Formats: sequence, C-alpha cells, structure tokens
Amino acid sequence: MMLPKKGRLLMLLASQVIVIALFFHMFGHRHLFQEEEPRRPMHVLVLSSWRSGSSFVGQLFGQHPDVFYLMEPAWHVWMTFTSSTAWKLHMAVRDLLRSIFLCDMSVFDAYMEPGPRKQSSLFQWEQSRALCSSPVCDFFSGDQISSPKHCKVLCSQQPFDMVEKACRFHSHVVLKEVRLFNLQALYPLLTDPSLNLHIVHLVRDPRAVFRSREHTTLELMTDSHMVLGQHLKTTKKEDQPYYAMQIICKSHVDIAKAVQTLPEALQQRFLLLRYEDLVRAPLDQTSRLYKFVGLNFFPHLQTWVHNVTRGKGMGQHAFHTNARDALNVSQAWRWSLPYKKVSLLQDVCGEAMDLLGYLQVRSQKEQSNLSLDLLSSSHTLGQVYQEG
Ligand SMILES: *[C@@H]1O[C@H](CO)[C@@H](O)[C@H](O)[C@H]1NC(C)=O
Ligand SMILES: *[C@@H]1O[C@H](CO)[C@@H](O)[C@H](O)[C@H]1NC(C)=O
Ligand SMILES: *[C@@H]1O[C@H](CO)[C@@H](O)[C@H](O)[C@H]1NC(C)=O
Repeated sequence: MMLPKKGRLLMLLASQVIVIALFFHMFGHRHLFQEEEPRRPMHVLVLSSWRSGSSFVGQLFGQHPDVFYLMEPAWHVWMTFTSSTAWKLHMAVRDLLRSIFLCDMSVFDAYMEPGPRKQSSLFQWEQSRALCSSPVCDFFSGDQISSPKHCKVLCSQQPFDMVEKACRFHSHVVLKEVRLFNLQALYPLLTDPSLNLHIVHLVRDPRAVFRSREHTTLELMTDSHMVLGQHLKTTKKEDQPYYAMQIICKSHVDIAKAVQTLPEALQQRFLLLRYEDLVRAPLDQTSRLYKFVGLNFFPHLQTWVHNVTRGKGMGQHAFHTNARDALNVSQAWRWSLPYKKVSLLQDVCGEAMDLLGYLQVRSQKEQSNLSLDLLSSSHTLGQVYQEG
C-alpha cells in the first residue's frame, strides 16, 4: 500500500528524528542537556602603576570568595634581572601572567631558587585570601575576610603546590601588576582562546602619585632605576623623579590610546578606574568593578568595603583612616607640595592629566584653594572604556 506523499515524508522525518534522538541519548546528552555549563574561568588584570591605590583595588578582588588573587607576580621577574629594563622584560612578564592565569605555577621555576619551596616563597602571598583559607589553609574559611597579618603567621608553611591547587579551585584569577608600560605586549593575551582576559586600567592623579613616591623613594629605588633604564646615567639626580613620572604618565597615555584603536569587541574588555572616583564612592565603584567581571557583591563584602573605607580594619592600606580622611589624603599634595614642583610635574604629565580628567592648577593660590575641584566629572575616555 502506498502512503500519500505527505505521509511518507512524515514517516521518513519521524524515523530520522528517532535516530538522531538515540544518537544524542548515547553520546551527546552529557553536553546537550547538562543543567549548567561549567563556568569559563575569568582572567582579570589590574593594570596600574606604583602608589596608585592598586593594593586596595587588588584587595577588593582578592577578598572575594570566587577569586584567586596574586599581587605583583612580575616582582619575581624584575628582581631576577635588576640590571635589565622595564622594556626588555615586557615579554617575560607577559608570559608569566599568561601561565599564572592558566594556573601553571611551574613558570616560577625560572625566578626562584631551586629546591623545595613553600607558598610563602611568593611575593606578598599573604595578600591573597585564596592562599589564606580552605582548602589551602584550614584556619580560615573561604568566605571570611582574610587578614594578611594573621595569615602570614598561620599559613606560611603550606607547600608551593598549594598555589596551583588554590588557583584551580576558583572561577576568577585576578592579577595586579604595575610593571607593564604598554598594551602591545598584552595583545596576544587578549585574543588567546584559552584566556578570557579583562583589564582594569587603574590611574591616579600624577601629583598625588608624585607626593606618595617622595615618601617611598628608598622602597622604590630598584624599580625606579629599571624604569629609567639607560636614562639613569644621563639624567641629573634631582630630575630623576620627574623623568620617572614622565615615563609612567606616558605609559597611561599609550595604554589609553591603544585601547581606542582596538576593535569594539575588545574595548569591552577594558574598564578605566580613577582612584579618586573610588575614594569618593567606594561602594558604587566596587559594584561597578564586580559587575564588569561577573562577581556578586555579597553582603559581607559590602559591609567590609563600608568598614575599611571608614577606617575599620586593613590598617596598612590606602584607607587607613575614615572615608573623609581618604578624600583628604588624596588631596594632600595640594598643601604639602610646593607649586614649583607641581608645575614641573604638570609639564611632564600634562597630556595624561588632560586625557584622564585631572585639571591643572596655574598658581599656588589655585593649588591651595580646596574649593576648586580638580577632578573633571567627565573625561574623554568615557565612551571608549567599558562603563560597567
Ligand atoms: C564591620 O565593622 C563592625 C563594627 O566594627 C564589625 O562588627 C564587623 O565585624 C565588621 N565587618 C566586616 C565584614 O569587616
Ligand atoms: C586634612 O588634613 C590636613 C593635614 O593633616 C589637616 O590640616 C586638615 O584639617 C584636614 N582637612 C579635613 C577636611 O579633614
Ligand atoms: C576659591 O575657588 C572658589 C571657586 O572657584 C572661588 O569662588 C573662591 O573665590 C576662591 N577663593 C580664593 C581665596 O581664591
């Protein structure tokens, strides 16, 4: 008996559906019908410079229970090659960051003494909540705010393998770095299919940075020499702080301009954060950061951010006094730097300041008039970077 044409077609179709369904039942269903895809790891680079509030921003990420955080891992590269320069070490730093993002900690073999090591061999390891709580160190639970001071005492004996374990345990890997001066070195990471790189470009008023650097000259000496590179010998000692700032300011301009030339899809992976905006509205700006990289702003973190920006806890960090004082500290250059220095600095950092929305002062009187707000509410980069 011949079925009508339509009927035959339907039967053929039905049998094919059955075959396909069987096939997926046998081989494919794990992938097709899984309730939730495993979350793709998120890789975040906080890209900044010395004395720009990056330790605090690093902590904002590092205290989140989903985050494995390391502070300035490239310190190991720089301190291995102290007679080299920032530029020569760019690629080594880039490759180090890539390996860490992928939780491959064997990359540190090149920069540490051979033999057994502890997680405490890592620079500033105690700043990482992930290395201070379970499953790495059972004194603290994962959703507790960790105290670097206590961690350093209780968790320093864990073997180095734990670093890799902690890294793999978290959905987000966040690295804070101050030793990169352009974006070109990072281009391959932005398009690397094994990475999901997002970059927070953190900047601060160069006049406040300069003042802070004056108070930490000795601490920063090795790094500053490597920044100056071949110019170290040819620059007069009293000009060196300005020359270092010129290089740092230029790096921010170069990075911002490079972001502008990227395809729009890649521009979405950048967020520009001015430290001063964070000081003025810590909860709003933290919320913006978290949203950018897909982290929940849990209630205990909100309380903590509220607390630390009001002077409770985290004594050694940027917000060591209350929020009004943090604002005050961010203005301290206005009464503690002579206008002559400010003027010189504005000469070498003018382009960066214009670009980032830091208004220049033209006299000692303007400088010390605190009614003059020197933070421009809109900066020209607003449209380029992700607004979060
Ligand atoms: C915030 O401060 C209050 C009062 O000092 C304290 O009881 C609380 O434990 C703090 N919370 C966090 C998360 O730091
Ligand atoms: C800011 O700090 C300076 C110096 O410590 C102090 O003299 C001034 O009163 C402070 N201003 C405010 C508004 O707290
Ligand atoms: C300080 O700046 C404000 C705002 O521009 C201005 O109104 C005021 O006159 C200035 N004060 C002095 C002493 O120059």
